Amino acid sequence: MSGRVFIFDTTLRDGEQSPGFSMNAQEKLEMARQLARLRVDVIEAGFPISSPGDLEAAQLVAREVEGPAIAGLARANRKDIEAAWEGVRMAERPRIHTFIATSPIHMQKKLRMTPEQVLEAAVDAVRFARSLTDDVEFSAEDATRSDVEFLCRIFEAAVKAGATTINVPDTVGYATPEEFGNLIRTLMERVPGMDKVIVSVHCHNDLGLATANTLAGLRAGARQVEGTINGIGERAGNVALEEVIMALQTRRDGLGLATHADATQIYRTSRLLCAITGIEVQPNKAIVGENAFAHEAGIHQHGVLADRATYEIMTPESIGLPTNKLVMGKHSGRHAFRKVLDDLGYKLTEEEVNRAFSRFKQLADRKKRVEVDDIMALVEEEVSAPPDIYRLEHFHVATGTGLVPVATVVLNRGEQTHTAVSNGDGPVDALFAAINKIVGLSPQLVDYTIRAVTGGSDALGESITKIREGNNLAVGRGNSTDILEASVRAYLAAINKLLDRQRTGMAVGPAPAGVKTGASTH
Ligand code: KIV
Ligand code: ZN
Repeated sequence: MSGRVFIFDTTLRDGEQSPGFSMNAQEKLEMARQLARLRVDVIEAGFPISSPGDLEAAQLVAREVEGPAIAGLARANRKDIEAAWEGVRMAERPRIHTFIATSPIHMQKKLRMTPEQVLEAAVDAVRFARSLTDDVEFSAEDATRSDVEFLCRIFEAAVKAGATTINVPDTVGYATPEEFGNLIRTLMERVPGMDKVIVSVHCHNDLGLATANTLAGLRAGARQVEGTINGIGERAGNVALEEVIMALQTRRDGLGLATHADATQIYRTSRLLCAITGIEVQPNKAIVGENAFAHEAGIHQHGVLADRATYEIMTPESIGLPTNKLVMGKHSGRHAFRKVLDDLGYKLTEEEVNRAFSRFKQLADRKKRVEVDDIMALVEEEVSAPPDIYRLEHFHVATGTGLVPVATVVLNRGEQTHTAVSNGDGPVDALFAAINKIVGLSPQLVDYTIRAVTGGSDALGESITKIREGNNLAVGRGNSTDILEASVRAYLAAINKLLDRQRTGMAVGPAPAGVKTGASTH
């Protein structure tokens, strides 16, 4: 049996469907492009029947992203499968992924179907999907709480009906590694035709065992891993793909398995997901957490200085984590800046480089030592930036002990300049209220954070701001050495995202009441 393990990324489907992680079509496309750079084998782009937005996003990814196969999820019925096919058929290599639950509790309580009806639906679904494409995956939802005899029967029938990948999900994260490995082994021994298809594992992390279960499944013969970046997903999440990729790479000696992933893209992929969703990983998260490669204890630092391998089983460079601290200053030119971006693995358009370079120059004027983390923060802000509907011209806040903070904000929209003044509970509140007056929205502030990207009194501050207007949730990110400016940039980025979703070709509208309008000097 080959030692090649296929990576199936479901960040845009299983990951995206968990609370707080929703992404719009453009964000999914950006993430999918980065997943292609990470060289995953399959990208599950969505569950197209679930909403028009999901269908549109899957179509965009299918049309634009080259390299990986693009999968669309479908329950085991024709309508779902047709929608999934609509979503992915434009892809170079489209895959339909159809599933049905097989555990007694799911069949009785959720589906209200007998095992025979479930089996028939599975066979129909796989046959129908196979009439549309040669690449069909079948999953038995809640496989680990299913009767093994029934699992064997349904998988045998799915293989006969034409499934090319058979997926065994631990949907509720219930299995232990030994049990899960034994289940995969049993299925591979007992299901006729299992040796002709790819056996896949899909582990959730409810007991914190997702990576261990996944590796147990691979040892038992599975050759596809389904998971997400940063382990995002339903409840406690899915298996974190970065953990699986690095476990296979670092312990190749013991496992003898390898993926085709480019591990040096892991850090960037993780950062991009944080930038898009506005949700950071915990500091001690394996592989991508802020502390994953930090050595605090004196005895550890001493060891690492003598030889990194004393306490480091992987190098930061192997996941693309930059380690050189001081990189540039205000005299650094565009050429050198571009080289740093290339070294960091960014593939930006000329326009994106220009925007990032001009932000870098502004930063270098305020900050003596511009570090790699600063540059990454700036580029991530630019890359995840929505279209500039409103641009910040300037702001001013008057505040102090015992004073009501008053903010003045000046924004440009096209050729127009808009000015508004507002007070608030604090300077940030006053600034956001002034922006609201200009843009004519008053979204709910769901989350607001500010953190220092690097150390020192001239550190770059990064704000992540999450706002909601009706059903629309938008995340904005802003960086500046001035934390109020970082906050304004982040809020405005989120506002621009909301407006971008609402506008669909709308001309610049009249300024809302309370806003002065005049020709821009730009
Ligand atoms: O966890 C699960 O069972 C799933 C299936 C749809 C594969 O996500
Ligand atoms: Zn799942």
